Amino acid sequence: MLKGKEIILGVTGGIAVYKAVELLRLLTKAGANVHVIMTRAATEFVAPLTFQTLSGRPVHTELFSLIQEQEIGHISLADRADLFVIAPATANFVGKVACGLADDLLTTAVMATKAPVLIAPAMNMNMYQNPIYRENEARLKKHGYLFVHPATGLLACGWEGEGKLPDPEVIFEEALAALTQKTLPEVRVVVSAGPTREAIDPVRYLSNHSSGKMGYAIAREAARRGAEVTLVTGPTALKVPAGVNVVRVESALEMRDAMLERAATSDIIIKAAAVADYRPRERFDQKVKKGDATLTLDLEKNPDILAELGSQKGERLLVGFAAETEALLENAEKKLREKNLDLVVANDVAAEGAGFHVDTNIVKFLYRDGRVEDLPLMSKDAVAAQILDRVEALYRTR
Ligand code: CTP
Repeated sequence: MLKGKEIILGVTGGIAVYKAVELLRLLTKAGANVHVIMTRAATEFVAPLTFQTLSGRPVHTELFSLIQEQEIGHISLADRADLFVIAPATANFVGKVACGLADDLLTTAVMATKAPVLIAPAMNMNMYQNPIYRENEARLKKHGYLFVHPATGLLACGWEGEGKLPDPEVIFEEALAALTQKTLPEVRVVVSAGPTREAIDPVRYLSNHSSGKMGYAIAREAARRGAEVTLVTGPTALKVPAGVNVVRVESALEMRDAMLERAATSDIIIKAAAVADYRPRERFDQKVKKGDATLTLDLEKNPDILAELGSQKGERLLVGFAAETEALLENAEKKLREKNLDLVVANDVAAEGAGFHVDTNIVKFLYRDGRVEDLPLMSKDAVAAQILDRVEALYRTR
């Protein structure tokens, strides 16, 4: 994801320094080359050796160290960066940069860079609310500096409130978003994901093995690209991606209502949900007791949400999935035509490395003009990026 990206991780002195260690791990795992700069105060909390070992590079701490300056000078750090991430950022750091002060290695490098700077402040809640801090943050935002909103909770000082450093995953996601070109600015994207549950009685339901991973990955990638994303999701165990509006539903009928309502104000609809095709005709109010050796459930057909969206598509771009276990192209092509889609993402859910509970997928893209594209096995995140590349191209040439 971040292969070849040069990221400067600036660490300033606060109790949350330990979380920066995990952030470093996430960034390096995603393929980034991370160069760590620590302020002197930060080294009081966690030793530079920890960051050095995990980044595989020397940690920079001194502006006036002859050795460090000779190896990679502060201007060279500033120039090579694709992104600066400052986590945790103290009120002192924010204040200094807002005033144009550069009195240590980190503030000097930040002042000298043309790369985007993402600042994750962490401090006592009263400090965070202090009007001087607020002015400093507002001034930096005005000049294009990016901020991660702090989390609310129990602070190290014993107070409860806003000012905690968010989880490393949240900062990581915002770093990715900062590095992603905003190719879908303000475009309204609705994504559906996950399974639906069709109630039998108060304790039982019919459903399928969908994990929701594919739809969530698409929503996350669209948000990174600057889209206004709404995720209509059936029950899943997944975390809603940062910056995505969520609508939670259970049954196919609830998903239909949610999708039709959101579709009216959307530009692009991507339907990755595994909707149950049938629901029990009757939902029992009480738990069904066991009786005879066999039990017959009477099922009735659910509406085909995608087909309904296709019939009232207008100017919108409509993308569907085709989950097949046989005759993949033939069945997918039929869905493209019958549901009036612009693009079908077809996958053989029985193939190894594709399907429900794995993190990878193997897909084919089918277009209205008859074109078919074959993609190799790749992560669902990578498939999401490929889908959005195609969607963007189709959207531009609509
Ligand atoms: N879909 C839908 N509403 C349904 C069933 C499916 O909106 N009631 C959508 C899915 O979200 C997916 C596409 O239609 O984008 C294809 O779903 P799939 O399960 O592959 O096929 P079905 O249309 O249900 O047909 P079949 O089960 O016969 O393969």
